[in-house]
Amino acid sequence: MSTHIKHATPDFAVLDAIANRWSPYAYDGRGVEPAKLKQCLEAARWSASSYNEQPWSLILAQRENKAEWDKALACLLEANQGWVKHAGVLILTVAKKTFTYNGKPNRVAEHDIGLAMGNLSIQATALGLDAHQMAGVNLSVVRSTYNIPEGYDPVTAVAIGYAATKANAPDAELYERDTKPRTRKKLSEFVYAGSWGQTSPLVK
Ligand SMILES: Cc1cc2nc3c(=O)[nH]c(=O)nc-3n(C[C@H](O)[C@H](O)[C@H](O)COP(=O)(O)O)c2cc1C
Repeated sequence: MSTHIKHATPDFAVLDAIANRWSPYAYDGRGVEPAKLKQCLEAARWSASSYNEQPWSLILAQRENKAEWDKALACLLEANQGWVKHAGVLILTVAKKTFTYNGKPNRVAEHDIGLAMGNLSIQATALGLDAHQMAGVNLSVVRSTYNIPEGYDPVTAVAIGYAATKANAPDAELYERDTKPRTRKKLSEFVYAGSWGQTSPLVK
């Protein structure tokens, strides 16, 4: 089981899996059980998407397959490779840029990738896993490594695995990063009503 050392401090009650989700840097090097991984992917599959386009494709690498693991890891920016190498699974996300039903640009394809990854992350947390999303991906390396065709864009990556404890962390510096408290803006800073910048009375 994950250690879940970084609960959120919600002002209003939220689902346990939302409060318990966080993005670790120190993973303990374990792989992810295939049954749990399939549940995470299933959660992504059932996300909402504009026109039910389901614009996501996911390139999956499990640490047990060293060749595939190294190939996917090499697509990340160096700073991310340093901690992701201890995770169990690495997924690269790819968005289809046009709608299948009319061929027009899908301006919310990346939004829908985000929804799918949100679902995946929450499912991972509910299963005792920990997921960490990344923008730090070398997009042109993803494209060439996996022969991504025109009309599809690599977008992000997500690492999944088990957060390390202090005792089994791969290195002290990574664990140290995980001890910093989680912070968020107040609702009053970003929930507006009436006009831009005017805080909604609901959250004042
Ligand atoms: C789209 C996206 C891209 C991110 N990119 C990176 C990244 O490249 N490297 C990294 O270490 N963390 C990355 N993060 C993780 C965020 O820094 C993290 O979610 C944020 O600090 C909030 O922390 P929490 O997830 O633990 O609540 C990314 C998160 C998201 C959603």
